[in-house]
Amino acid sequence: MAGLAVNVDHVATLREARKTTYPDPVAAAALVELAGADGVVIHLREDRRHIKDRDVRIIRQTVQTRLILEMAATNEMVAIALEIRPDLVTLVPEKREELTTEGGLDLVTHRDHIEDAISSLHQGGIPVSLFLDPDRDQIKIAHKINADKVEIHTGTFCDAKSPQQREETFQQIVDSAKMASKLKMGANAGHGLDYKTIKAFKGVSGIEEFSIGHSIIARALMVGIDRAVREMIALIKEL
Ligand code: PXP
Repeated sequence: MAGLAVNVDHVATLREARKTTYPDPVAAAALVELAGADGVVIHLREDRRHIKDRDVRIIRQTVQTRLILEMAATNEMVAIALEIRPDLVTLVPEKREELTTEGGLDLVTHRDHIEDAISSLHQGGIPVSLFLDPDRDQIKIAHKINADKVEIHTGTFCDAKSPQQREETFQQIVDSAKMASKLKMGANAGHGLDYKTIKAFKGVSGIEEFSIGHSIIARALMVGIDRAVREMIALIKEL
């Protein structure tokens, strides 16, 4: 069965909407773990718009499962990761003006830069995953530059505007997961997944973990974090 890592950034987004001390992503991280999540994901953005350095430090100390730190491949972030020592770093592209991560890394253009970041993190003993569009060429480069894992971007599939686009993007995800397994890299998948789109992954092999934030935290507002996480785990169990 694939695992579930829950991204708690949106809890911090709500806190920052009023610059209060609540809701606290530290508490949310503990609750998602108690509900059965296999890992906690946080994205420390350069502009610190939601998760703050304090959150990363405390969640590192309190997490009982695994901490996955999403970050841009900048010198500042690499230094923070080397100090905090998450269980996995997922390198993502980051633009200040975006609402959320908009696509995978472009390893054709940024290969050397990403390779340097992977090497520095490896020297500190930290495994690295690369967030990539479902593109076999990108997956091959990830392997060449020593990525331990890839996270396949599912956003285009989730937002597909037609059945044809949905079908095509889904096939690309399946092919990319196969390619990653063939190259002995683990494949995670995430972005835009919700309680409906997750069902499409029935019978798909090679995906080790789903990384899901928005839909779970949004549902948690209505039914509570515990139930929101458990409902997603139950759907993943059926895949
Ligand atoms: N994976 C990556 C690399 C992301 O940047 C995000 C969003 O922070 C997610 C997964 C989770 O996406 P969503 O919040 O749409 O579930």
